[in-house]
Amino acid sequence: MTFKSLKITRPDDWHVHLREGNLLKAVINHSTRVNQRCIVMPNLNDPITTTLKGIDYIKKINLLSNNNFSPLLPCYLTEDLDLIDFSKGLDENIFIGAKLYPNEATTNSKYGISSTEKIYPALEILEKKDKILLIHGEKVDSEIDIFDREKYYIDQELSLIRKTFPNLRIVLEHVSSKYGAEYVNYSPNIAGTITPHHMMLTKKDVFLDKSINPHHFCMPVVKNEEDLIALRNFATSGNKKFFLGTDSAPHPIEFKVPNLKSKPGIFSAPCSIEIYASIFDEEKSLDNLEKFCSINGPKFYKLPVNADQIELIEERWTVPEYTIHQEIKIKNFMGGKELNWKLKA
Ligand code: DOR
Ligand code: ZN
Repeated sequence: MTFKSLKITRPDDWHVHLREGNLLKAVINHSTRVNQRCIVMPNLNDPITTTLKGIDYIKKINLLSNNNFSPLLPCYLTEDLDLIDFSKGLDENIFIGAKLYPNEATTNSKYGISSTEKIYPALEILEKKDKILLIHGEKVDSEIDIFDREKYYIDQELSLIRKTFPNLRIVLEHVSSKYGAEYVNYSPNIAGTITPHHMMLTKKDVFLDKSINPHHFCMPVVKNEEDLIALRNFATSGNKKFFLGTDSAPHPIEFKVPNLKSKPGIFSAPCSIEIYASIFDEEKSLDNLEKFCSINGPKFYKLPVNADQIELIEERWTVPEYTIHQEIKIKNFMGGKELNWKLKA
């Protein structure tokens, strides 16, 4: 039996939640062990809406990571954002761009956007400065089925944003549907991140025979097999519009089970590069892994590609069930399951 080994340019994670305090301490090494850069999401309990908060958060992350690691931060958009401060934050590279959360679409989105028109001045600034708009693309409306939120956001909000700001460069985060992936594919100035879990799970993995698995509950919710297949095809094709964004989103276990208000989020950082490698292997596309993990992202963000490499080896290992740090316990995605690929230490 021959074992494969694969060297690729060091990856970046263009969408991850590192949180703060003890949770940050519990999870950060799982992201820095493999990535050079991470876009760290600003949806903290007190969201990052000003340059001061941004500088403070970056400092906290830098204190816990090695010198080679760079956190990149988008500003959390609100309808009453201080636009002078926002512009300054973009000019001084405190903010890489801005993240649009629709109001109440996910964790800590209560300061998010109810009326897209109210943030047009902020979008105009982004467009003028050629900075990226990152979008959680889900339309929240009691009339809209949770499985159709992405489609409705694209049809009713995103298409209007693109018409109004044709030169604005956009990342549709955690693309979760065939419809969304095809939209990204044929629209200019848009790219999409794809998570490991949206390429591993369907709604049958959330809604079980007689129960629900809260560890597979995330936003956007995982969908049908045809969506999973489309995402796998786009990700593994080498198409430059799609790149790595894990959306690894840890919640301490007491916020997941047993809980009628389980928080959405899947914590994949302990094994995300290994899952991506396994998926590309299953799809017979290991040749394209480097494009997805390490090339397409920096090209879209107009940043340099990393200089060094990582090595992945074909070796069976079992993902630990939990990440534990002091009083914090988080369920790892794929915890207790075997994977075929491993990062060489
Ligand atoms: O499942 C999710 N969890 N989706 C998001 O968009 C946010 C994230 C979180 O912060 O927990
Ligand atoms: Zn996220």
